[in-house]
Formats: sequence, structure tokens, C-alpha cells
Amino acid sequence: MPLRSRITGTGSYTPENVLTNLDLEKKVDTSDEWITERTGIKERRIVGDSETTSDLCLEASKRALQAADVKPADIELIIVATMSGDMPMPSTAALLQKKLHAINAAAFDLNAACSGFLFGLSTADNFIKAGTYRKILLVGADVMSKFIDWQDRSTCVLFGDGAGAVVLESSRGARGVISTHLFTDGNLWDFICLPGGGSQNPPSAKTMKDRLHFVKMKGNETFKVAVRTLEKLVVDTLKKNNLKLSELAMLIPHQANLRIIKATAERLNLPMNKVAINLDRYGNTSSASIPIALDEVVREGRIKKDDYILLEAFGAGLTWASALIKW
Ligand code: ACO
Repeated sequence: MPLRSRITGTGSYTPENVLTNLDLEKKVDTSDEWITERTGIKERRIVGDSETTSDLCLEASKRALQAADVKPADIELIIVATMSGDMPMPSTAALLQKKLHAINAAAFDLNAACSGFLFGLSTADNFIKAGTYRKILLVGADVMSKFIDWQDRSTCVLFGDGAGAVVLESSRGARGVISTHLFTDGNLWDFICLPGGGSQNPPSAKTMKDRLHFVKMKGNETFKVAVRTLEKLVVDTLKKNNLKLSELAMLIPHQANLRIIKATAERLNLPMNKVAINLDRYGNTSSASIPIALDEVVREGRIKKDDYILLEAFGAGLTWASALIKW
């Protein structure tokens, strides 16, 4: 039997503050009706002023470690997928390692925007399959609220803050991560970007004035590419594994827009009761959306031992990715 990585514990955490569509009506020229119809989002969670990405990571990680019955000191590697870390340097993973007292773990961040958790899952899976590490903590976390322009109604209604974590352990057997598939098209980098603060536009009074430190998105163009790409991604992932759609117990998609999720399910002919949805409560939490949704379906008992589940994501880069798991 080959070495596989198995998810032995999941955990998630979202901040207490709830921001509803009705609250947003008071901030920008929008309406609950527009947001609900165009996105499916009703509310999202927003961090408090002093709360950071690594704080959210810590709470989600503690829950995942408890579920896996693994101690922080047993973790050999921490990967945090994020585009909104506590600071550019050091990594949020290093700060999490300190807060968690995971003294034996190497730690690094990885950025593939909304696809980050699945890029992280693939990285962790390959470390385990190579025999390099046996216990890995993977976290997807983003504090989008600090990087969106609260004056831009086309983006500020979409995002929320949160973190989701999984513990991956090496095991031999049929259960675990079966395959992961990663894609990038850098030609479409400007569909979703945060142009300020890096080496191209270092922080300055001008970048502040031009509002370059906030997420910019060509929403409609992104929407069209996402629908086209995600259907093919699911079909190709199943084909590569000789699996029929009817054998899938659950699809866990990135939670960007209910219309994207429904269009993908309709094109695939997949009933919506096999699709995990939580964007109505959390909005788009970027790297956190898939692990939060996974944690919810696990704790609700909606997936059982030996079930096939498929995770798929789409985000800035552009990036897209999938993972097939036998639970
Ligand atoms: N309230 C009211 N009206 C609005 C709002 C709002 N919050 N936002 C935009 N509008 C208006 C626009 O100004 C436009 O008006 P106009 O026709 O007078 O110009 C109209 O609504 C339609 O705007 P569109 O952008 O065409 O709306 P669309 O139906 O495409 O929905 C949305 C926009 C929700 C952003 C959608 O395009 C989408 O979800 N895109 C994909 C996002 C995604 O998947 N991102 C990937 C992950 S993100 C990451 O990686 C960080």
C-alpha cells in the first residue's frame, strides 16, 4: 500500500462580529436584495481591530489538533495559505508556530489567493508521500476586511474573515488524499489583484492616495472564466481517477458566489444537496473558505468513512485547483 496523507482532524474559526447586508446598506450604495440575488451572501464575519490572521489561525488549529488528538509538539510542518498575513515578514506560519508552541515544526506561508488551501493541500500531500514529514498542520486563513476598499461597493460586499485548519497524517491504505491538481494563468493576473505594497508599488503617499492597497477585481470577467473552468476541473479530476459523478458523496467548492456554484452544479448535473454551501453566513473568506466548509460538513456528520469528496477552488493569479479525497 502506498503512503498517503489522511486528514485526521479539522477545525475552523470565524470572528464574533457579524456584518449583515443591512449593515452594508448604511455604508455604501447597495441593497440586501442586490447582494443576495447576485452573490447569495447574507452576512460575513469581521475581525476586531486588534485581531490578526495568526489569531484566527490559532483558534482553528487548536480545534483541528484536538479533533485529531495530536499535540502541537508532534507537528513537523506548518503551512499557512494566506494573502493577508499579519505582516509581509516573518510568515504568519512562524507567528502561529510561536502561539501554538509547535516547537518542532518548520513553518512557511503560501499564497495562491482563494485557491491557497488546495495549493497547500497538494504541497503537504507531496511532503507526506515523499516520506519527509508524517504530521502536518495546514491552515487556510484570510482577514480580507483589512484589504478591501470599504468605499467600493463592487468588492466590499463580497468578502469576510475566517480560518480553517486540517491535520494531515501519513498512513498506508486506500483512504486519504487521492489526487490534487493545480493550475495558474498569470496572463489574467489583473482580473483580481492588490497592486500596492509590493516591489512594483512600494508603500507611499501616492499608493495610499490612489487606494492601491485594496483588492481590485474585474468581477464579471472573473465570473465567466470561473464557471467555464470549474466544470472542466471537476470533470477532469473525476476522469483522471476513473470515478463517476454519481460516486461523489460531496463537492466542497470555494465559496465566492452562489451563482458560480449553482451554475457549476447544473452543468455537471450534480444535485445541490451534494454541494457544501456556507457563503450565506461567511461570504468569500478566500483561503479559509474550503477548510471552513469542510470542517462544517465533518462536524455535521455529512461525510462518512470511505466517501469520495471533491474540493475545488478558483482565485487570483488566476489560479484554480482541485483535490479528490477518500474520507
Ligand atoms: N450593490 C449594488 N449594485 C452593484 C454592486 C453592489 N454591491 N456592485 C456592483 N453593482 C452594480 C454595478 O455597478 C453594475 O451596474 P451598471 O450595470 O449600472 O454598471 C451592476 O451592478 C452589475 O455589475 P456586474 O459587475 O456586472 O455584476 P455581476 O452580476 O457580475 O456580479 C460579482 C458581480 C458578484 C462580483 C460577480 O461578478 C462575481 O462573483 N465574480 C466572481 C468573483 C470571484 O469568483 N472571485 C474569485 C475569488 S476572489 C480572490 O481570489 C481573492
